[in-house]
Amino acid sequence: MGGVDTGLLAALRTDPELQRRAAEALEAEGDRAALALRKDGTGPELAAAALTLADLRRGARAKFGERAARMYFTRAGLEQATRWPVAARRAARFAEGAGEVTDLCCGIGTDALAFAEAGLEVEAVDADEATAEVARANAEALGLDVRVRVGDALEVGLGEAVFADPARRSTAGRSFDPAAYSPPLDGLLERLEGARFAAVKLGPGIGHEWVDREGAEAEWVSVDRDVVEACLWLGEAAEVRRRASVRRDGAWHEMTGTGRARAETGEVAAYLYEPDGAVIRAGLVAELAEGLEAHTGHEDIAYLYADELRATPFARAWKVEEVWPLNPKKLRGLLAERRIGRLTIKQRGTGIVPADLRKQLKLKGPNEATLVATRLGERHVAVLCQET
Ligand SMILES: C[S@@+](CC[C@H](N)C(=O)[O-])C[C@H]1O[C@@H](n2cnc3c(N)ncnc32)[C@H](O)[C@@H]1O
Repeated sequence: MGGVDTGLLAALRTDPELQRRAAEALEAEGDRAALALRKDGTGPELAAAALTLADLRRGARAKFGERAARMYFTRAGLEQATRWPVAARRAARFAEGAGEVTDLCCGIGTDALAFAEAGLEVEAVDADEATAEVARANAEALGLDVRVRVGDALEVGLGEAVFADPARRSTAGRSFDPAAYSPPLDGLLERLEGARFAAVKLGPGIGHEWVDREGAEAEWVSVDRDVVEACLWLGEAAEVRRRASVRRDGAWHEMTGTGRARAETGEVAAYLYEPDGAVIRAGLVAELAEGLEAHTGHEDIAYLYADELRATPFARAWKVEEVWPLNPKKLRGLLAERRIGRLTIKQRGTGIVPADLRKQLKLKGPNEATLVATRLGERHVAVLCQET
């Protein structure tokens, strides 16, 4: 379980003073923190466990904010944990549809804790005893009521509503194959057939063949432009076919649609937009284009062009300066004329490798720009632009 065994966890839970000293020693002494703790008479194993916890709590702030300082973690548990704002938002949606929930793969308990905080009665299950113990410790530390037990997601009884966040492992040759999730996604989905209200957290790269199910909603979630997960909503929990949920600067924004609409295509215009990854994965580029009065340059490429700039949390925007043929030799001269020394290169649909193109361009000069290599119908072009 990545550093802290159950006995050491129990010892740490009863010794907040040691937790405090370990956090302080880590801040003040860095690599020498263990020596500082040992000087106070703490045994080597307990000192190491206390420092591991202090280190994990520090790393957990990005996902959990201030509450990280009170929580317990394993390294694997923290890596797999849902970010708190994402868990809290999902929990609010569960609380609208159900009074109690079974969390089938609770890990260190993030989603279960968020469910409890949203007012749901929570039964949390994990196959791993040590991980379940961490979830219990977290419920106690945050003063939340969560019943945690050890069991197999494919066998335990289900409550009125069900949530599952199977462990995603990469397998040889094929990374994050849903059939290799633990428990396997196909078994889990079979288990949830007919569930009144359910959701399953999935990797953001999940194939659409797994989520295109009759009556299901597939949601992709991004936090500050990073697509962090997909979530499949089942039964009464499914409201639309596709949803993109985007968190920007601490606020949520969402778009919904069918995932089937196609944007109109046309030429490059005054502004270029790159949709958020959650919008692209959810297949909602056409819906975004409509809202921005924009079009694509190629039906399969998710850059949008529009005559006017509109503020949107669902895309980044650049002001277009030039549109050139995608010819490295010519580009080199054109960029040299403009004395562009710092260039961000983006590409979709041309097959060029930005690092290789950069070498060919031999950039020099004080100016800065973005070059977007892409396709307009069958033409390969380079769009020189500036971020707005
Ligand atoms: C991705 S983690 C859950 C993370 C959790 N939602 C959170 O945000 O903290 C997946 C968990 O599933 C557990 N697990 C794997 N196979 C399981 C099974 N068959 N039944 C129950 N739990 C299982 C693992 O032990 C692991 O803790």
